[in-house]
Parts: sequence; C-alpha cells; structure tokens
Amino acid sequence: MKIIGGPASQALSSRVARELNLEPTVCDFTRFPDGELYTRILDEDVDEVTIIQSIITDSDFVALLQLIDACEDSPVINVVIPYMGYARQDRKFKTGEPISARAIARTINADRVFTVNVHKTSVLDYFNADAFDLDASQLIGYHIRSMGLKDALLVSPDAGAMEFVERTAKEIGYDCDYLEKTRISGDTVTIKTKSIDVQGRDIVLLDDMIATGGTMVESIKLLKGQGAKDVYLACVHPVLARNAVMRLYNAGVRDIISTDTIEKTQSCISVAPLIAATIKGL
Ligand code: R5P
Repeated sequence: MKIIGGPASQALSSRVARELNLEPTVCDFTRFPDGELYTRILDEDVDEVTIIQSIITDSDFVALLQLIDACEDSPVINVVIPYMGYARQDRKFKTGEPISARAIARTINADRVFTVNVHKTSVLDYFNADAFDLDASQLIGYHIRSMGLKDALLVSPDAGAMEFVERTAKEIGYDCDYLEKTRISGDTVTIKTKSIDVQGRDIVLLDDMIATGGTMVESIKLLKGQGAKDVYLACVHPVLARNAVMRLYNAGVRDIISTDTIEKTQSCISVAPLIAATIKGL
C-alpha cells in the first residue's frame, strides 16, 4: 500500500503514513509557466494506493484528478477527501444551478472514496465508487475533554449540527444544547433563543465547519450576552475564509480548535488515526 498525499494534505497524509508504519510517497507539485498545475509521483512501483487530498481550492481539485490519473496502473485506488469543498451545494437551490457536489463526485475515478464529516452524507451517493463518511466526533470530544474545562457545555450553533454535537457530547459525558440560526445572506446570520442557562459556564460551540465565521460571531455574542464565561470554538473543517479569524477574536472567542482536514494553525486535532484505522481495516 502506498500513501500519496496531495498538496492540500501533506501533513495529514504524513501522519497517516506514520500511523501505518509506511513512508509516504513523495510527489512534485509545481506549475508550468502559464500557471497550469504540474504533478508527478516520484515512485515507479505499482501498488494499491491511498490518495489523501482535501478539496479546499479549485487547484486542489485539479491536483486530486491528476494524482488519480497518474495512478492508472494501480490495482486499487482509494481516495480520501478529508474536506470536500462544494459539498454544501448538494442540491439545486435555484433553477439553473448545478449540483456542484455531484459534478465533483462524478469525476473521481476510484475504487473507494472516504470523506470526513462531509456536509451532507447524501452526497456520497453521487460517487461512482463505494463511498463512506468517517466521523471525527470522538477525536474532537477527547480533545475537548483534555482541555480540562469545568462544567463546560457543548453548544450547536444551529439545529443542523445538533446530531454531531450530541454525538461528541455523549463520547465525553458533557451536556449539550443548540441555538436557532436564520441565514440572512452569505455571511450574515441571526441567532436567537435557547432554553439553556449558560450563566458562568464555559461553552464550546461546535460545528462541522467554520467558513466566514458569521454563524459563530453571532453565537458568541449571544452567549456572552447571556453571561457565558469563556467561549471556545471547535470544528472539523477550519475553512476560516477571509477575515474570519479576526472577526471571531473580536467577538470574544477564547480559542479556536479544529482538525487537520484543512491544515491551519488551529488544526490541533489530527484525523490521521481515524483514516489510518479505516485503511487498516480494508
Ligand atoms: C452550515 O450548515 C454549516 O454547518 C456551518 O454552520 C456553516 O457553513 C458555517 O458558515 P459560516 O461560518 O460562513 O457562518
């Protein structure tokens, strides 16, 4: 088995390889003078491969396609997409729109595909391969427990993430609840109500991803206004687009923690053990 890490998942794929006592296969990722991507796998052995590459940018997507194509002689190709960008466009919201998640999935020519807490698991059906979603809730839960917060409450910023938050809270025996969110526009949300008393409690707001930070900014303000002590943010996918980090700190967040499905300074929890255990079980 060869572990091939794409440009967006170099650290994560190295960690997965280490968990499996393998040396990750080194690749060249450069660009032609006109800006096109050049990818080359620097290993000529033909073997079963696991390609690990998040789709954060459009270039990441092209690099993934190039890696899959370069492995055409491999007897088995497993593809791990730790963060699958475009998964939020999992259906047509307006006429004339594409189902972007489907458009991406249809291009992935592999035997098996694995995602990590993909935005909607229904997108797995769009792949022409056996597709599975891995769940990082246990790893995140263990990390939150290791933070040693007293009487902490796990809060979902909306009803949509509640199932994930409940699973995480259950892993570590913490209380949980959720807020009610209404999205006004791409980066504006209003958040109201909740029956929980947060007065004097440490809060960990948990979601599958933080993108513009709009959801979390409003949630932090609401919780702080209701007397919460420290508010921490945790997520699987730290997209943290544009000025999200600064907006979150301005809103009063104590710390932001996430996994390494997207490799950022906040990525203190690795999903490598989850991916490695899955590969081992194949
Ligand atoms: C939405 O359904 C997701 O779970 C996140 O709540 C959302 O993507 C976060 O977006 P933003 O950070 O832009 O508010």
